[in-house]
Amino acid sequence: MTTQGSADLVIVANRLPVDRVTLSDGSRRWRRSPGGLVSALEPVMRSNDGAWIGWTGVADDETDPFVDDGLWLVPVPLSAGEIEEFYEGFSNATLWPLYHDVVAKPEFHREWWDAYVRVNRRFAEKAAEIAAKDAMVWVHDYQLQLVPQMLRELRPDLRIGFFLHIPFPPTELFGQMPWRRQILEGLLGADVVGFQLSGAAQNFVRLVRQRVGHKTHRDMVYLPDGRTVQAMAFPISIDTDGFEELARSESVTERAAQIRSALGDPELVLLGIDRLDYTKGIYPRLRAWSELVADGDFSVKDSVFVQVATPSRERVEQYRILRDDIDRLVGRINGDLGRLGSPAIAYMHSSFPRHEMAALYRAADIMVVTPFRDGMNLVAKEYVACRYDNDGALVLSEFAGAANELRQAWLINPYDINGMKDAIVEAARAEPKEITRRMKAMRKQVRENDVASWANRFLEELEAARPSHSKKLRP
Ligand code: F6P
Repeated sequence: MTTQGSADLVIVANRLPVDRVTLSDGSRRWRRSPGGLVSALEPVMRSNDGAWIGWTGVADDETDPFVDDGLWLVPVPLSAGEIEEFYEGFSNATLWPLYHDVVAKPEFHREWWDAYVRVNRRFAEKAAEIAAKDAMVWVHDYQLQLVPQMLRELRPDLRIGFFLHIPFPPTELFGQMPWRRQILEGLLGADVVGFQLSGAAQNFVRLVRQRVGHKTHRDMVYLPDGRTVQAMAFPISIDTDGFEELARSESVTERAAQIRSALGDPELVLLGIDRLDYTKGIYPRLRAWSELVADGDFSVKDSVFVQVATPSRERVEQYRILRDDIDRLVGRINGDLGRLGSPAIAYMHSSFPRHEMAALYRAADIMVVTPFRDGMNLVAKEYVACRYDNDGALVLSEFAGAANELRQAWLINPYDINGMKDAIVEAARAEPKEITRRMKAMRKQVRENDVASWANRFLEELEAARPSHSKKLRP
């Protein structure tokens, strides 16, 4: 078991990879979150006395560090006020919209910034406390951009990596941020700063040159103290084999058939699965579908659009507005176009376990993923991983990071409703040979680039970043 100051690999993320659940008998326990990140990191964490620092998701939770299924988990408490100002406020009402092309207007409040600094310091102090000498610390995502610099000041011996899971904005948009210099300097505390796409890494390097005045060359930043920082792209992926295996299982196969039959055995099932977030482009997607039905391209008798919207950040105003907008739109579309037992849209506002997701992917002929901006979009990759018969069509926004790799999808611009309609019609009418050709190529891409190779690539870069620090990770 890891004790203070002995972890050779420390993951720092806003959330721990577990949720607290209450069982029917009233007892409480931890349930591992289904994310691919934790399964990718699990082996390397086990062999390196790894620890994961994060928030439990509950206000004022003072739970002591604990071991869950062999993983050492270290909670960082957040007060109710900090959840409001750091998590819902600065992280999700300032940074989130700013980094997603200002799809919604970012709010700038000085008290939120103060809470962001305070909470980032708490995470940095916790990492400084548990990391072994010369350990590797990998900090994740937009909620914790100040941690690298704060941690470096406390523990200059560490190798520090940072990965941003969401887009990094163009210089013109980032310029709006009142604390832009502090954020850039926060990130520069890392040895390696990773992004989903190379364009994001270039945005970062350009900003560092313009706003902080450091010398840069290609993906390298040269700091006055002689240290270098490398900015690179590491496109994240999924547990491809795990998804395929699940998709091939008898229970998922049965469930997929049940889903189609519950939908009335239509000829065509279209599917959208998203967190209920305004960046995901759910509204224009459903409008496109409703117009196709209204125009007579598809009929509700033999086709249906299944839309799953997972509840998310429900106390943030923009998310409440979106929920009302989508509820109203779905109600209107089904009211106008649905028939008894045949809605135009089967809408579910709920989250499903991986098993049900895989069954939905298996049941869908066309997956429709239309974000206005998305760091990667793992749903698109999960759909591909589940289509082991090389069938199924993917309609994908060119503004999702995944579009860089899944070039054989029907690529669309979510701001262009007619273009989206054309792509859906094309995908629905495509010859099986064409569908197979596209899916095969996409499956090769997702098979060759899974989340484990993503994590290994990042950790290898980080290991190579400061050769003077000889400590290596145990495989
Ligand atoms: O995509 C960014 C991200 O923070 C993911 O890491 C996370 O799973 C998702 O958004 C939901 O975020 P939250 O922690 O706010 O529920």
